[in-house]
Amino acid sequence: MNPYNDVKSPGEYEELLPQPNATLVKPSLWNQRLRIVAAFVAGILTCFSVLSYVHQPSCAIDQAAPSGAVELYAAPWAGSSEVHHYPPASPTNVNPSLFPTSVGYAGTTATGAEPAIVVTAPSYPVHTGAPNLVAPSFKGHRNHTSSKFDIFRYWGNLSPWFSVERGAFGLDSSPEVPDTCRITGLHLLHRHGARYPSHSDGSSGPAGLASRLNEHAAEWKAKGHLAFLNTWTYKLGEELLTPFGRQQLYDLGVSTRLKYGFLLKNFSETNTIPVFRTESQNRMLDSALNFAIGFFGYPFEGQYQQSITIENTGINNTLAPYMTCPNFYSEENIRGFIYARKWAEIYLEDARHRLQKHLHGYHLTIDDIYSMQETCAYETVAIGYSKFCELFTEEEWEGYDYSLDLGFWYSTAWGSPVGRVLGIGYVQELVARLTHTPIAEHNSSTNATLDDNATTFPLDQSLYVDATHEITVLNVLTALNLSNFAAAGPLPYTHIPRHRSFKTSHLAPFATNVHFQLLSCAHTHGPQVRIIVNDGVVPLTSLRGCPHQPDGLCPLDTFVAALSEIIQTTDWQWGCHGNWSVAAGDVWNTTTGSYPPRPV
Ligand SMILES: *[C@@H]1O[C@H](CO)[C@@H](O)[C@H](O)[C@H]1NC(C)=O
Ligand SMILES: *[C@@H]1O[C@H](CO)[C@@H](O)[C@H](O)[C@H]1NC(C)=O
Ligand SMILES: *[C@@H]1O[C@H](CO)[C@@H](O)[C@H](O)[C@H]1NC(C)=O
Ligand SMILES: *[C@@H]1O[C@H](CO)[C@@H](O)[C@H](O)[C@H]1NC(C)=O
Ligand SMILES: *[C@@H]1O[C@H](CO)[C@@H](O)[C@H](O)[C@H]1NC(C)=O
Ligand SMILES: *[C@@H]1O[C@H](CO)[C@@H](O)[C@H](O)[C@H]1NC(C)=O
Ligand SMILES: *[C@@H]1O[C@H](CO)[C@@H](O)[C@H](O)[C@H]1NC(C)=O
Ligand SMILES: *[C@@H]1O[C@H](CO)[C@@H](O)[C@H](O)[C@H]1NC(C)=O
Repeated sequence: MNPYNDVKSPGEYEELLPQPNATLVKPSLWNQRLRIVAAFVAGILTCFSVLSYVHQPSCAIDQAAPSGAVELYAAPWAGSSEVHHYPPASPTNVNPSLFPTSVGYAGTTATGAEPAIVVTAPSYPVHTGAPNLVAPSFKGHRNHTSSKFDIFRYWGNLSPWFSVERGAFGLDSSPEVPDTCRITGLHLLHRHGARYPSHSDGSSGPAGLASRLNEHAAEWKAKGHLAFLNTWTYKLGEELLTPFGRQQLYDLGVSTRLKYGFLLKNFSETNTIPVFRTESQNRMLDSALNFAIGFFGYPFEGQYQQSITIENTGINNTLAPYMTCPNFYSEENIRGFIYARKWAEIYLEDARHRLQKHLHGYHLTIDDIYSMQETCAYETVAIGYSKFCELFTEEEWEGYDYSLDLGFWYSTAWGSPVGRVLGIGYVQELVARLTHTPIAEHNSSTNATLDDNATTFPLDQSLYVDATHEITVLNVLTALNLSNFAAAGPLPYTHIPRHRSFKTSHLAPFATNVHFQLLSCAHTHGPQVRIIVNDGVVPLTSLRGCPHQPDGLCPLDTFVAALSEIIQTTDWQWGCHGNWSVAAGDVWNTTTGSYPPRPV
């Protein structure tokens, strides 16, 4: 819930801080602003920890706890970190000459036709569940009522991606090609797969919980549902893609080939291979390469070219636009985390009381309880299962999910003063590709060196694949003016709105994928475009001129004209570097992701 570094953070905020080993000199404004943010948040945390809790709500989970549970004192190493180093530095049995990578005799290698599920299959393959991950057992917990409850869908940006329900975004349509249309191209924007927690100083998030428990291990003992803590160790690394995260991207590559493989015919016709883009961070590159293995098969060499842009402070990069946008880190942009914290005090109050009864000698704070929910999500996607998950009720998981909505809504999306401006560079690239016209002027996060060169940034492909972070995906959706996602905003921190159109778990989970489908249809005039987020078709009617159309189609010309208007009216210089300010608290609000206007 802490915005950018040390306390606890939904998402990828910590890593967005200039890294200590950054090679570029950081703009001094950043340091100045970051100090302000840090002080601000520290103040909030202090207020937070002095809250007292008075009443003792009755608790069904308690009553259902197994009777006769053994009481154990914590092992001295409870909460300590466990790390396994693989591969060993110098294995003794390595002998490459005995293990050639090619021995000939490959057998017949005739290829067949490219698949095209999105065009040919009678129904569309739905992505559900999370193969290989184990959901918690709620057995013995009286309050677990609905067997349909899918905990994996309540982790905000830490959820593994899933196909949203048909109609989730307001259109009763699905991704397969509408009648009388054919698909002529696809632009795919996706997020990396599941990862370890972001880098932290060890005082925040799951690592912070572990170190606090470990520091006081001699003083506490746990029983009942918390008894596992007595021997629990911390097993998570930082930042890297997990095995499940690899699988997500591999699967996404396979499914994209099955759905859209036919678009490769265009490359054969023009004697070219596709350029896909990702950026330099370890998990970003690994995600892109796993996608490529899924999409092209192994070995993928010679089948495509991978552009690896640099994510670092001061480098223009539309896939990591915050790296050149100081105002992203401003105190004006952290309200979501303050709200998330306020919300946690409400929705986790019962859980804190309930769990405290099972832990003697250690005072549980709301921070600790929130970290336990985070640890459930992170342990599950990293090591496949987490005892922390079963500690919470369905309602508390809905609360956790919503805490992440608050954070992302106000700091990266429609509620953030920099939500739109951060996404504008990618929108400029999208328009360049859609119109086959180079970007006229580089005045946002676009990088002229790469984008002005037709080899590194081709404008005539039938298939584009870009990998990025959840922040950028939300920035782009905001910049695209998809206002139906903003319908429920501004989001309150006192309760979960009954109808909320903004859900981080729907828009920006691990391996989230946004399809810009290009179509040609008999019943409409000229080329068409539609946007599909995690298999949910998005209405485009909030874009000026796009018609009400049952399958979410908008004429390409109209779409491009609306985006061009947005490009012209979005001012990177002012939004990212301007000396604007907004009133603290909920006095000032945006539901279009816009900064306050430049004074005239
Ligand atoms: C358990 O369920 C009961 C009945 O639905 C409800 O009143 C109570 O608040 C629930 N307890 C928790 C901890 O959610
Ligand atoms: C553009 O991208 C290249 C390659 O990632 C990088 O070396 C260069 O510094 C970038 N240019 C700017 C102005 O950021
Ligand atoms: C990098 O972005 C800045 C700000 O938009 C722009 O002035 C500059 O020309 C860009 N540089 C390149 C190489 O694209
Ligand atoms: C792209 O950049 C390379 C290296 O600078 C250059 O050789 C090539 O001509 C450029 N291609 C285009 C189409 O601009
Ligand atoms: C790709 O090929 C399809 C089928 O031949 C065609 O309709 C479409 O226009 C082509 N797309 C591009 C970008 O060349
Ligand atoms: C953006 O969306 C708003 C509604 O939220 C609409 O009034 C405006 O016309 C849209 N702008 C464009 C360029 O589509
Ligand atoms: C930035 O450049 C684009 C062309 O790439 C132009 O349409 C837009 O008006 C410019 N924005 C500003 C604020 O000057
Ligand atoms: C920024 O704006 C504030 C108030 O709007 C003003 O007091 C301050 O001098 C400005 N700073 C700069 C560097 O323009």
